[in-house]
Amino acid sequence: MSSSILVEAKGVTKVYTTGKVEAHALRGVDIEFRVGDFAAIVGPSGSGKTTFLNLVGALDVATDGELRVLGNDISRMTKRQRADLRLNSIGFVFQAYNLVPVLTAQENVEFVLELQGAGEQRSNRAKEVLAQLGLDAYSSRRPNELSGGQQQRVAVARAVAANPKLVLADEPTANLDGENSDILLKMMRDLNEAQGITFIFSTHDPRVVTYARRVVTLVDGRIDNDVTKNSATSSAE
Ligand SMILES: Nc1ncnc2c1ncn2[C@@H]1O[C@H](COP(=O)(O)OP(=O)(O)O)[C@@H](O)[C@H]1O
Ligand SMILES: [Mg+2]
Repeated sequence: MSSSILVEAKGVTKVYTTGKVEAHALRGVDIEFRVGDFAAIVGPSGSGKTTFLNLVGALDVATDGELRVLGNDISRMTKRQRADLRLNSIGFVFQAYNLVPVLTAQENVEFVLELQGAGEQRSNRAKEVLAQLGLDAYSSRRPNELSGGQQQRVAVARAVAANPKLVLADEPTANLDGENSDILLKMMRDLNEAQGITFIFSTHDPRVVTYARRVVTLVDGRIDNDVTKNSATSSAE
C-alpha cells in the first residue's frame, strides 16, 4: 500500500442485525482516500454515510471486506487498539458538536490533548489552535455561552489540535444556518490546504457539497458516483 493512501476499502459490507431483522447498510464498497483529499460523502438518508464514516473512524467494524485506515487493518485490531488509533490519529467532528458542557472552549481543546498524553505544552497548543482559527475571543466561554456555529468551530479546533492525519465529520453543518455552514467549510478547507489535513465529511446540503474537491455518492449502501473536480478551489467562493 502506498503511504499516500490513507483509507483503502475493498468489498466493505456492513449488516446490522436487530433480532431477526437485517439492515444491509453497506453492500460492497471499494474506495481509496489519499493524503490531501477534501471529500464529501453524499446520498439520501439511510444510504450508509454514517455507517461508512463509523467504520473508517474505527468506531465499528465491518461485517465483511477489507478496510485499511492509516496502514491498519481495522478488522484485525482489538478494541483497545482501535481506541488508540482514534485518539492519536483521527479527528472527529459530530453533528451535535459534542463539546463537554462544563469546560470552556480552551479546556475542551486541552482535554483531548491531555487524553493524548500531551504534556505542559497543551495549554499553549490549545491557545495557538484557537487563535489560528480566529476563536481567541471565545476561549474562556463554555458551550452554552456560544452559538451553534461557534461551538462547531471549537469542535473543529479540538479535532485538529493534535495534528491528525485524517478528520472525519458526519453532517457537521446539519444544525447550522447557511452563513455558519459557509464559515465552517471555509475553515475546514483552509486547514486542508494550509496544513494538508485530509477531510472526509458527509452532508446532504448541496451548498456544502460545492466546497468539496471530491464528491462520493452513496445510494443504498453502494458507491453510485465518485467525482474529483480538477481545479484546486471549488466554485463556492
Ligand atoms: N445501529 C443500527 N442498527 C440497525 N440498523 C442501522 C443502524 N445504523 C444504521 N442502520 C441502518 O443502516 C442503513 C444506513 O444507515 P446510515 O449509515 O445511518 O445512513 P445515512 O447516514 O446515510 O443516513 C439504514 O437503513 C439504517 O436504518
Ligand atoms: Mg447519517
